[in-house]
Amino acid sequence: MFDELRNYYKKIAKYSSAASLLYWDMQTYMPKGAGNYRAEVISEISSFIFRMSTSDELGKMLTDVQPSNEIEEAIINVGRKEYDRYKKLPPELYEELTMLATILEMEWEKVKPKGDFFAVSPYLEKVVELSRKVAEILGYENEPYDALLDLFEPGMTAKELEEIFIPLRKLTLDILNKIEETKIDYSKIFDVYIDKDTQKDFNEWLIQYLKYDLNKGRLDVSTHPFTNPIGLNDVRITTRFIENDIRNSIYSTIHEFGHALYSLSIPEEFYGLPIGSSASYGFDESQSRFWENIVGRSLSFWKGIYNKFIELVPVFKRYSPEELWRGVNAVKRSYIRTEADEVTYNLHIMTRFEIERALINGEVKVSDLPDLWREKFNYYLGLTVDNNTIGCMQDPHWYGGSFGYFPTYSLGNIYAAQIFEKLKSDINFDEVVEFGNFEPIKEWLCKKIYSKAKIYKPKELMEIATGKPPTSQAFMNYVKEKYSKVYNINL
Ligand code: CO
Repeated sequence: MFDELRNYYKKIAKYSSAASLLYWDMQTYMPKGAGNYRAEVISEISSFIFRMSTSDELGKMLTDVQPSNEIEEAIINVGRKEYDRYKKLPPELYEELTMLATILEMEWEKVKPKGDFFAVSPYLEKVVELSRKVAEILGYENEPYDALLDLFEPGMTAKELEEIFIPLRKLTLDILNKIEETKIDYSKIFDVYIDKDTQKDFNEWLIQYLKYDLNKGRLDVSTHPFTNPIGLNDVRITTRFIENDIRNSIYSTIHEFGHALYSLSIPEEFYGLPIGSSASYGFDESQSRFWENIVGRSLSFWKGIYNKFIELVPVFKRYSPEELWRGVNAVKRSYIRTEADEVTYNLHIMTRFEIERALINGEVKVSDLPDLWREKFNYYLGLTVDNNTIGCMQDPHWYGGSFGYFPTYSLGNIYAAQIFEKLKSDINFDEVVEFGNFEPIKEWLCKKIYSKAKIYKPKELMEIATGKPPTSQAFMNYVKEKYSKVYNINL
């Protein structure tokens, strides 16, 4: 009986795998003109998957089947939650939203360079309207936004986020002011032209240094770097090359590597099952941020890669590992989230969180977005935004219909620091990182997190892994300790 259920899920996974490959191709190699038809194909497969995921046959199996152990019980619980959620949504609504969001994301990409918000806002209005409908149908206790947030971070509410963000904003601005008082600008070190081929060579070396299994993955280029778990033993990543800032490609690559490592480390027997993924979007992001920031932006890491880096990118020979380490940790108020440093990054998320929460709760209109962005961005980051390209049009999320996604980026930072706090009490972190010996770290993460897949809710998994429920305390300590060293100041 349980085998039947398992096989049914594995069948769904195969259709999802086909859709993922089509999406990956759309973002990497597909001829631009093929976009509309591709959107139709993806939407067709998605609605087929939707029908399979909401079939009476699956509903009956989930009711009838008897679990014989804890794992089977978790499969049924997670499967049941997903099933009930999908079952509530009318298939037409789901299809309309997927189709519209796919088209809107492509339109957004076209008009983004000009910052022409009003060329896409009629579609966006529709996407917001449908997303609000979804929130109403799914249901919530306090506010509509919670229903969407729960899709990405099960159990998290906007109220809880607000409580995490208030002290974090205060501490961040405090640190930022102290750093700015030093008048030091480390970012200039990397302000140098490096051609794409040189960047490509270094990034290809880098993924091998991190031991990303190229037998089960590959590195390509896309406008927005992403990780795509296409199927069993096939998790691909992309990066991008910005010629006047090599840091962008290096840290995009390491970030996506972190996501891929998590995906590739989920036990094979869970593949395709409701528990066969990361615990949540926040947890997934905790792993990309762990490798990107905590490992990749540490002094030990720079000592480890230094010789190869100056060999492949000799223009940096005149700097020491310490100087390069400071260069990749330069703190500066900036407009673009994906280029933000660890200290200011969460301020970018707080801006988006407030805006999307108000949009979904029906407190503001889509047409208010550009002005609202300017106002909130100024409040959080103290900068004046004068065009939408670097303002409310910089990220694809809203145009792709993903409301409730942004907060998981900050949760990722917070979870990563809490996991790190525990990890370094078990492992001599600096020593293993300096020697490029990442195995003990990977084993630890695998044992505590990756092997647990989605058996537990994010809060429970954090308690099991670190002995504490998630809080921003570890992150605040981490930032204070690290940046006191980077800037030689007392934080
Ligand atoms: Co990520």
